Amino acid sequence: MKRLLVFTHVCFVVARCYAIAPHDVVDHHEVNPQAEEDSHYGTKYDRCEGIEFDAIAPDEKGIALFFKGDHLWKGFSGPAELANLTFQELDEYHHLGHADAAFRMHSEDEEDRKHHDHVFFFLDDQVFSYYNHTLEKGFPLEIQQVFPDVPSHLDAAVECPKGECTTDSVLFFKGHDVYSFDIKTKTVKKKTWDHLPVCTSAFRWVEHYYCFHGHNFTRFHPVSGEVEGNYPKEARRYFMRCPNIDHGAGHRRPRCKLDAITTDSTGKSYAFIETMYIRLDTPRDGVHPFPIARSWKEVSGHVDAVFSYGDKIYIIQDDQIYIYKSAAHYTLIEGYPKSLKEELGIEGPVDAAFVCDEHIVHVIQGQKMLDIDLEATPRVVKAEAQLPFPKIDAATCHTDDVKVFVGGDYYLYQSPKLLAKSKILPESHKMSSEMFGCEH
Ligand SMILES: *[C@@H]1O[C@H](CO)[C@@H](O)[C@H](O)[C@H]1NC(C)=O
Ligand SMILES: *[C@@H]1O[C@H](CO)[C@@H](O)[C@H](O)[C@H]1NC(C)=O
Ligand SMILES: *[C@@H]1O[C@H](CO)[C@@H](O)[C@H](O)[C@H]1NC(C)=O
Repeated sequence: MKRLLVFTHVCFVVARCYAIAPHDVVDHHEVNPQAEEDSHYGTKYDRCEGIEFDAIAPDEKGIALFFKGDHLWKGFSGPAELANLTFQELDEYHHLGHADAAFRMHSEDEEDRKHHDHVFFFLDDQVFSYYNHTLEKGFPLEIQQVFPDVPSHLDAAVECPKGECTTDSVLFFKGHDVYSFDIKTKTVKKKTWDHLPVCTSAFRWVEHYYCFHGHNFTRFHPVSGEVEGNYPKEARRYFMRCPNIDHGAGHRRPRCKLDAITTDSTGKSYAFIETMYIRLDTPRDGVHPFPIARSWKEVSGHVDAVFSYGDKIYIIQDDQIYIYKSAAHYTLIEGYPKSLKEELGIEGPVDAAFVCDEHIVHVIQGQKMLDIDLEATPRVVKAEAQLPFPKIDAATCHTDDVKVFVGGDYYLYQSPKLLAKSKILPESHKMSSEMFGCEH
């Protein structure tokens, strides 16, 4: 029983349990009262027995929907319910009792925005578009009317937003063939990924892509199809809560104590805790820790401070600094890591660092804050201030507002100047457990 208690929220620690996915996520299971009444249908499928899903897709609220036959699971825990209680027309039109594939549309582009966040279902040669669990007028349509050159009788589909794919796209799977559909130009590029198992469903989760086959899954790169790491893995261990399935040792929520925090130029926000990072700007997908090396391959272990400047992200570890170019993926700039001395003109270690609107990085070491001009060569410390904190864990700045993190609390300042001048502590705020998936 103990395990059940520990893993109700975010999994944290021991590297091996992070090998990949959202084995544990903030769950958004919604109870459908009618489903309770019809619960005798639910006994038809038990996902904890290890089943092959027909389709998986998040809805507009971020609730992961798992489909099998005429049944559906909402979220990562709970029993199956009849799919037609939520998506009535799927079976009114077809009486097929299953979906071939499903995905949630991502198209932020002005012209195509009307479909943004709609959930598309594929049944034989038909496509259904739902929003708020309501069928869009005019649907169903023939697949090719909406997605020209995409074949019927699909196996799987998954959205791939711009940044992760070159343009806002959808990947359609049929056998080993993958049809990469560009939403804007409505053109298709066909690829064959023989090295990947045939996917019966595909799912995008916090920017990672998963092909489900049997009761296993394989993570792949959405552009190259490349599989990195040790796959397949057992879906029940990562995507659902099953009382009799081992989730690996050491599941616990992390302490609310950051090592570093930053937001890059593309708007992605990260908190770093121990050897993991958490995305803070995708709350709809739940809070899930990933190993730092997943996004920044060359960095291992804890980081001391991270800041963003221009289109780059700077990671400080002991007396070394790594500089990465921010894009869909982070690439280490040639010649790095370098010593802090060489890059910033100071000795490590560093406790925290942040940049506001200007080209000044504010570096915190113990009670000292050093201002270093990132546009000046050689780098020199332009100003030095004494802070009212004995030790700061992390700090970040948005426009001019500075957030200083100490243990499970944070403090707000309206500018780095006010922080530099402050003699007494302002009111403290508690780090929210929901946002950081941590425990006080
Ligand atoms: C939903 O599906 C079940 C079984 O497939 C069927 O018995 C029931 O009549 C359907 N309900 C509606 C509202 O279509
Ligand atoms: C979603 O559907 C529910 C019930 O079908 C309705 O009450 C609600 O207003 C809808 N919300 C939106 C945003 O359309
Ligand atoms: C599922 O993955 C496990 C390894 O995690 C492997 O041993 C097993 O053969 C796989 N089963 C299928 C049906 O692919």
